[in-house]
Amino acid sequence: MTTAQHRIGSGFHAFSTAREVIRGVDLSGRTALITGGYSGLGRAATAALSAAGARVVVPARRPDAARAALAGIPHTVVHALDLADLDSVRRFGERFLDTGVRLDIVIANAGVMAYPAERVGPGWEAHFAINHLGHFALVNRLRPALTRGARIVSVSSSGHFLSGIRWDDPHFRRGYDHWQAYGQSKTANALFAVHLDTMCGPGELRAFAVHPGSILTPLQRNIPRAEHLAQGWVTPAGRPAKGFKTPAQGAATAVWAATAAELDGHGGAYCQDCDIAEPATGDDMLIGGVKPWAVDRDDAARLWSLSAELTELDSFTRADPR
Ligand SMILES: NC(=O)c1ccc[n+]([C@@H]2O[C@H](COP(=O)([O-])OP(=O)(O)OC[C@H]3O[C@@H](n4cnc5c(N)ncnc54)[C@H](OP(=O)(O)O)[C@@H]3O)[C@@H](O)[C@H]2O)c1
Repeated sequence: MTTAQHRIGSGFHAFSTAREVIRGVDLSGRTALITGGYSGLGRAATAALSAAGARVVVPARRPDAARAALAGIPHTVVHALDLADLDSVRRFGERFLDTGVRLDIVIANAGVMAYPAERVGPGWEAHFAINHLGHFALVNRLRPALTRGARIVSVSSSGHFLSGIRWDDPHFRRGYDHWQAYGQSKTANALFAVHLDTMCGPGELRAFAVHPGSILTPLQRNIPRAEHLAQGWVTPAGRPAKGFKTPAQGAATAVWAATAAELDGHGGAYCQDCDIAEPATGDDMLIGGVKPWAVDRDDAARLWSLSAELTELDSFTRADPR
């Protein structure tokens, strides 16, 4: 069985901006955490939540670069965190819990794409480890800091079209392909939201996955310019292709999922273009939609068990700490 995937008519659209979807929302006194919230889509989400009055915690693997990128955006605080290193996640989690600050919103946004074959930690494939397992560990560590009704937004991608979870070989011991590795990690991001929401329910938190759209950001840094052209992402003049969004438009779905009251009854849903996504009817990633393997409840539970086993963390199966 999958989550219910049908548009609800949010009134927004593919090119709404993060500030437009949050207009009229007052986040004074609220705290959000956005991994990678100083680059690309994350920075645009940080700016929008800050403008709505939230304090924004930005964990960053390059804290100095993060502070420089966030200069001029008020109410932001940067802390060191490397999602590739579970000791770094533990240290961040312990320090954060010590502050006593409570989190109303977590946007698990940081990510890498199209890495050459690389192993991190105990030999894990880098996309799966950074994009999924690092965030899995982080959210598990942060559970005691979440306010009742907190929103957790997992930034997935239509890249999930490229691969479901490779249950027999998630770490690509054979046949490494950087697009399949990215695709598997983005399926994992979506399944993470499904099972987190199922385990906790609306009394504790609501979790959503989002596809931001297609946006030129530093995410594509590992892809040669010739491939940008071949994929049709840029015009020969180097401009974003038709259908591409700006970072402010790309951040809108995550910001909407983090704040929209109309999503209260739709926990676990995969969203795109500021609405719940419909099931995908084809393979065009620019059109998007969601494939069944990214919102399958049994696969979501199975991935949770695998992730808990790998990270040795599973705080959500224990009683709510509050
Ligand atoms: N851009 C798109 O078209 C698109 C489409 C679909 C989905 N997405 C998703 O949107 C999210 C944001 O992407 P973006 O386009 O905004 O890319 P971006 O500008 O490259 O931002 C990614 C952020 O993740 C951080 N990061 C990478 N590895 C990390 C690690 N080990 N520990 C901590 N932080 C780490 C990066 O830090 P550094 O600055 O140090 O590298 C950066 O701040 C990603 O999850 C991506 O998969 C993007």
